[in-house]
Amino acid sequence: MDWQVQTFASLSSTQDHLKSIASECDEGLVIQALTQEEGRGRHGRNWFSPMGGLYMSVLLRPNCESVYAGQLSFVVSLALSAAMHEYSEQEYEITLKWPNDVLINGFKSAGILLETDLDRHELSAVYVGIGVNILSAPENAIELSKVIGDKRIAVHPFRDRVLHHLSAYYEQWQTEGFPVIKAQWMEQAHGLDNNLTVTTPGHEKTGIFKGLDDEGALLLEIDGSIQKIYAGDVSL
Ligand code: BTN
Repeated sequence: MDWQVQTFASLSSTQDHLKSIASECDEGLVIQALTQEEGRGRHGRNWFSPMGGLYMSVLLRPNCESVYAGQLSFVVSLALSAAMHEYSEQEYEITLKWPNDVLINGFKSAGILLETDLDRHELSAVYVGIGVNILSAPENAIELSKVIGDKRIAVHPFRDRVLHHLSAYYEQWQTEGFPVIKAQWMEQAHGLDNNLTVTTPGHEKTGIFKGLDDEGALLLEIDGSIQKIYAGDVSL
């Protein structure tokens, strides 16, 4: 992938900026901001965006049906994990939490926000928002710099490593399909065979996390039978 990175000192949200210009742009455009005034997380939450973190939105135009776009969360999680592993000097554990968080030692270090555009029911764009806590993190989360000793992490080289791995996993997903992505994600899955609770608006389900189906839905064992969960937030 030939990434075209545009870096801004500050934006309201890289996601909103990318969406506002995307109709004129090709796949591979990356909008990065050093800080965001109104960074957005999933479910309308705020995303803490002080200087020293990675905040970027990537424009992808995959050749797939819109129902499969959510699989990109797993593709992007793998890229983030691979980039973080390159910085690892001491023992720390990177795990992937369904559907799209990257954890270090059990705490959230990065989040992914996927939004799509359809053109007459066809998927025309996927906006992949990526936020990584590098130098600081909000409460109950963790920053990458905390677990890699003294080594300073410059945001731009880390961004380039994420994009490098994203190219590779994105190509693998497009050429080989989801099963190979799923297999790699499962090797790093957080909480496999443990009890977990999935929250969707107005609903809560608790069961044992049994993995993913072939489309990326979470498999939850409840009272001995397997249920598929397509969207929600997980707590362990
Ligand atoms: C989440 O875990 O809730 C997803 C967080 C996504 C945050 C990123 S930061 C870059 C991009 N711009 C935004 O406004 N949000 C995403």
